[in-house]
Amino acid sequence: MTTSVDSKSGGALRTELLTLSDEEFVRLRTLIHQRFGIYLADGKKLLVQGRLNKELRSQGYESFAAYVDDLEKGADADKLLTLVDRISTNHSFFFREEDHFDFLAESILPELVNDGVRPDELRMWSAGAADGREAYTVALVLRDFFGASVVWRRPVVLATDISVSSLRTAVDGVYPLEALDTVPAKYHKFFTRVAGARNGRGERVRLSDRIREMVMFKRLNLNQPSYPFKNRFHVIFCRNVMIYFDRETREKMAHRLCTYTLPKGYLLIGHSESLGRSAAGYAYVRPTVYRKWR
Ligand SMILES: C[S@@+](CC[C@H](N)C(=O)[O-])C[C@H]1O[C@@H](n2cnc3c(N)ncnc32)[C@H](O)[C@@H]1O
Repeated sequence: MTTSVDSKSGGALRTELLTLSDEEFVRLRTLIHQRFGIYLADGKKLLVQGRLNKELRSQGYESFAAYVDDLEKGADADKLLTLVDRISTNHSFFFREEDHFDFLAESILPELVNDGVRPDELRMWSAGAADGREAYTVALVLRDFFGASVVWRRPVVLATDISVSSLRTAVDGVYPLEALDTVPAKYHKFFTRVAGARNGRGERVRLSDRIREMVMFKRLNLNQPSYPFKNRFHVIFCRNVMIYFDRETREKMAHRLCTYTLPKGYLLIGHSESLGRSAAGYAYVRPTVYRKWR
């Protein structure tokens, strides 16, 4: 254990920094990998130590050893969920990797309409949705494509993530004002300004109910043998998620996603990700775009 001085309190408050040994890090990494598929490289040790220190303290732990012991014993599911919440990267933004949304509006949706699929029959899945911006972007594009007269009787976008805190933000649909920076102007009418949380400072925006009602959020660990869905999807957005998994986990997951894709449906992955040219039952269409033909 090392001692650090809290600079904000001018040294008056001394906090004990719990240190994570190499051996404890490896045990923690194994647990996270087995349960969530996320692989933490050696270089992440200090990051994990930093992100978990406050959490361990708040749970009453005096050392990482005791914490890892409890997790290995399967202490309680909430502890593991809190752990993954702390170590996962939940960064996202509206219209991220925008060409996917152009492709949705210009190719996928016209084709589905041509095939006789009605708007409220659509099934889109944002898998690894973080704080919901990806799923809401899909909803905005659908709303724009089909127009104001379409009544969405049920949510047509499913958004799932393992991170409880991200999902909470997602359900609220409230974001910092700066989040609008990446949103094309024609969509700004679907956001209203709300007062900031901190004494009215830090202005925020909220998505309109019309858009929020198009999306349903659920907690789901993608690294499990099957998913609890009765119906398959026209498009799965699984972007900037598999990047955290090792190759074997990625391959298994791609196979699994394929079983939940409708024939002729699509899988879109992040721009820095790849599944190779012939992946898991999907055919390669172009970089980051895969299609299931049968
Ligand atoms: C960087 S964000 C990507 C968000 C969004 N898809 C995008 O591209 O902007 C990665 C998300 O994957 C989620 N994630 C990581 N492992 C997961 C797992 N095993 N099951 C479900 N979600 C997971 C994280 O919680 C995080 O919110």
